[in-house]
Amino acid sequence: MSKRSLKKSNEHFKKALNKLPLGVTSNFRYWGDDDTIYIKRAKGCRLWDLDDNEYIDYRLAYGPYILGYADERVDQAAREGMEIGGVFALATELEYEVAKKISSMVPSAELVRYSNSGTEAVMAALRVGRAVSKRDGYIMVEGGYHGVWDAALWDIDIDEWDPEKGEPEITSSSAGVPGITKDLVSLVPFNDADALEDLLKKKHNEIGTLMIEPILGNCCSISATQEYMQAVRELCTKYDIILIIDEVKTGFRVAKGGVQELYGVEADLCTFAKSIANGYPIAALAGKEEYMRHIKYGGVLHGGTFTAHSVAISAANKTLEILQNTDALETVANYGENLKQGISDILSKRDIAHSFTGHPSMSGLFFSENPPTNARDFRYSNYPFYEKLAEEMLEDGVLCEFDPREPWFICEAHAKDAMQPTLDAFESALERTLGDES
Ligand SMILES: Cc1ncc(COP(=O)(O)O)c(C=O)c1O
Repeated sequence: MSKRSLKKSNEHFKKALNKLPLGVTSNFRYWGDDDTIYIKRAKGCRLWDLDDNEYIDYRLAYGPYILGYADERVDQAAREGMEIGGVFALATELEYEVAKKISSMVPSAELVRYSNSGTEAVMAALRVGRAVSKRDGYIMVEGGYHGVWDAALWDIDIDEWDPEKGEPEITSSSAGVPGITKDLVSLVPFNDADALEDLLKKKHNEIGTLMIEPILGNCCSISATQEYMQAVRELCTKYDIILIIDEVKTGFRVAKGGVQELYGVEADLCTFAKSIANGYPIAALAGKEEYMRHIKYGGVLHGGTFTAHSVAISAANKTLEILQNTDALETVANYGENLKQGISDILSKRDIAHSFTGHPSMSGLFFSENPPTNARDFRYSNYPFYEKLAEEMLEDGVLCEFDPREPWFICEAHAKDAMQPTLDAFESALERTLGDES
């Protein structure tokens, strides 16, 4: 039970439950009957709930706010986009402008199409991959996340897995996913090129596409090694597999050219969403011209009533202009690095083993000396301790996801004034968490 007053949020929850399953619009926004909060407003790196509790936010809506909430530059562009008028079942000039910016930042993004969400962009990417390869089977990496659609909702069941009894089971994370879709998916352990090659040797006649997040943005930012990503690229080329790099979280965040720039590896197709418009709903499927040209009459169908809405595309145009022409991403990375150092100092003073994963703009914190290298290792981290710590921090006005699988997201606005209050909250929350343990 929270020590903060949540009176108004609690009252609203009771009303909302009458109209919305779990009282919210995404399962992940439900924190329990007594703890679900509703947001009144946000600015920079801060949120205020209905009871006027203030939080420094490291969830940032799971990543889209790369500059910060209600960024005036982007909001002004969105207002100008509103003047254009919305959607028309016709295209606008801005779509081309934004596509040029994406291509100039991400070399593999030779051609671009827009979607409304990351889910839609990845669905479209897999469809193009299948059209090109003419094979329906696809590979995902254990611990990867590619949105809420049937084909992507399969993963190993880490929680129920008993390593003594053999391999983990593949299960769907949602009811209602048709069991037959499981036949098309193969899952491989992350950072294991031999396992990938073994699979491709056996099944390359059935598999045409591989989807991967080189930094597992939904599994604590566990990161691919350089050798592994190079091997993935080479194996995809060797076995004629379309490589989809899902940059929904990493794109326009970890580097101007995304995770592909970090690793120096080019995708055949790649997907973007979150940071592309600093929170406005737009996503992109992009890739090599020879594959993207399959989107045509008589080829791959791609579209959607709301794609490239004038508000969102205008916000994307401004966000990308800022990311391209300012040092915003350096500011984000430096803050992330300094935050890790500050947290590390606090933990080291108390001899608490810890490690970090991922990129400083979206890093994961582990209570073990060596960070995990794949989703299976994750079970050896002390995550009940992390969860308790995150709950305590919330009481001190710092919001990071309770589920340690979600990294800490940084935006440019954190750099203004969030460091010391965050570290103070971390230290006092840690004291209380340790106190409760002893
Ligand atoms: C890597 C990745 N792909 C796809 C998605 C789905 O994006 P959306 O939630 O916008 O549908 C997400 C969402 O977190 C993601 O992290």
